[in-house]
Amino acid sequence: MTPKQVALVQKTFKSVAAISEQAAELFYGRLFELDPSLKRLFKGDMKEQGRKLMAVIGVAVASLNNLEKIIPTVQKLGAKHAGYGVKEADYATVANALLWTLEKGLGPDFTAEVKVAWTETYQTLASVMIEASKNHEFDGVFLEFLAQAYQKIPELEKRQNLEA
Ligand code: HEM
Repeated sequence: MTPKQVALVQKTFKSVAAISEQAAELFYGRLFELDPSLKRLFKGDMKEQGRKLMAVIGVAVASLNNLEKIIPTVQKLGAKHAGYGVKEADYATVANALLWTLEKGLGPDFTAEVKVAWTETYQTLASVMIEASKNHEFDGVFLEFLAQAYQKIPELEKRQNLEA
C-alpha cells in the first residue's frame, strides 16, 4: 500500500469510528442480507461483537505502516475463525458488506481511491487470516486421523490377546 492509501484509510476510519455502533449494525445487517446462512455462526451478543470488530479494525488500521508487528495476532485470529466455522469464501462476503458499510457511512467521502485503499487493507488482513486458517484446518484433519487410528486400539488388543 502507498503512504497515501494508508493515510486515506486512517482518516476515513476515524469518521466511521465516530459512528461505530451504527456502522457495526449496518455491517451485520448487510452481511446477513448477503448470506443469511452466516447468522448461525454468531453465538454472542451482536452489539458486543460489533465493538470487538471495530476495535480490531482500529488497531489494524493504526498499524498499517508496520503491519509485521500485528501479523502473529492476525494469524491467531484467522485460526480462531476457522474454529468458528468460517470458510474462505465467507471472507469475500464480509469484504462486500464492509465496503457497502463504508459507502453508506462515508457518503461522498467514499471516493474510488478510498474504495481501492480499503480493499487493499481488507485483502491484506484477510489473506493472512485465510492462510492461518488453512494451517488450522490441517490440524483438524490430522487430529481426525489420530482419533480414527486410536479407535482401532481395542480391536488390535483383542487380536493380540487371541494370538497370545
Ligand atoms: C479482516 C477480517 C475479520 C476481522 C478483523 C474479524 C474480527 C473478529 C474479532 C475481533 C472477533 C472476536 C474474537 C474474540 O473476541 O475472540 C471475531 C469473531 C467472529 N468473527 Fe470475525 N473477523 C473477520 C472476518 C470474519 C469473517 C470473514 C467471518 C465470516 C462470517 C467472521 C465471523 C466471525 C464469527 C462467527 C465470530 C465469532 C462470533 C461469536 O463468538 O459469536 N469474521 N471476528
